[in-house]
Amino acid sequence: MIERWLRPDLRDLLTYSMSLSPEDLAAAYGVSPERLIRLHANENVYGPSPRVYAALTHGAWHQYPDPQGRTLRRALAEYTGLSPDWIALGNGADDVIDLLARLLVGPGRVALIVEPTFEMYALSVRWHGGRLLTIRRDEAFRIPLAELLEAVRRHRPAAVFLASPNNPDGHLLPEEILRALLAEDVMVIVDEAYFEFSGHTFAGWLPQHPNLAIVRTFSKWAGLAALRLGYALMHPDLVRAYDEVRPPFNVNLAAQQAALASLEDRDYLLANVARLVAERERLYQALQEFPFLQPLPSQTNFILCRVIGWDAHRLWEELLRRGILIRRYTSPDLRNYLRVSVGRPEHTEALLHALAEIHREASHVRS
Ligand SMILES: Cc1ncc(COP(=O)(O)O)c(C=O)c1O
Repeated sequence: MIERWLRPDLRDLLTYSMSLSPEDLAAAYGVSPERLIRLHANENVYGPSPRVYAALTHGAWHQYPDPQGRTLRRALAEYTGLSPDWIALGNGADDVIDLLARLLVGPGRVALIVEPTFEMYALSVRWHGGRLLTIRRDEAFRIPLAELLEAVRRHRPAAVFLASPNNPDGHLLPEEILRALLAEDVMVIVDEAYFEFSGHTFAGWLPQHPNLAIVRTFSKWAGLAALRLGYALMHPDLVRAYDEVRPPFNVNLAAQQAALASLEDRDYLLANVARLVAERERLYQALQEFPFLQPLPSQTNFILCRVIGWDAHRLWEELLRRGILIRRYTSPDLRNYLRVSVGRPEHTEALLHALAEIHREASHVRS
């Protein structure tokens, strides 16, 4: 009924985005929401620093927050080794990505992405009326450099969005690919949402490359997914331009205080990251033992698995029935893959137990 008032170029997008919440899914599969093990969204199962709770007991909640987030940007400067004028804030990395798309890729401009990757790049580009140019990774999730450079030279995109490590495969962006792209004088946005898990960053390249922007988040390493704090590291001129198109209070005070408290308690949080990295390696080894799973090595807090000889969606359902929610995909290139976030050791045990049970039952049916 309201369709005729909507932007025609957004109509098909609007029918796509209706997905069920974890609570709805749990209910549909007869699992009580409190019992559901959430390994679908790469959340940090250890949660925030205890200092975050203390930092949120007080605050000038009745006043607008500092629109420049100066205190937090100073703390982030110390954390990243850059100065505050190289740092821009957002309401989560999603917001940073969206604001960069708003700033760089408007109507009539092209953005290049390499699929499969984090879905927000494509969504934001389309929301802002930009045109999406897509090339694909190969079957080993490698980026085809020659094809990428050809696309850049032919279409001169206003922005190239890449994640390092990439979601969903967990692989780092190879240095030679970024070097080649930056030499083409295009704007490259590198999403380092999982930086603390990979320990690898391109931040050191920023001073030499004004066409590089790096996106980070507190959702993963600091366990602040619900509070929403993301940031970009980029040339001060870009930070200023970004600030011109940003709603002034996009980062609320609670998020700013929580991020500050997290940075003050980084040793505690990085110990949790180390725990998750160790658990990731244990989970990776254990998943390899199942003949129907081929896990990919990962530099993040998740593992992508190719599913062999089983329907991935059926396996996903069997796990959900047993109270474990992981990530499945509908796109043709990922239809046979499942992604699982790394949890606590007891989550790994529950997952392995469920997989063993599913395997046993399937073998029983077959024999
Ligand atoms: C590559 C990547 N970038 C960004 C995000 C979103 O981060 P935020 O919670 O800060 O919006 C995610 C979340 O899954 C991600 O995987």
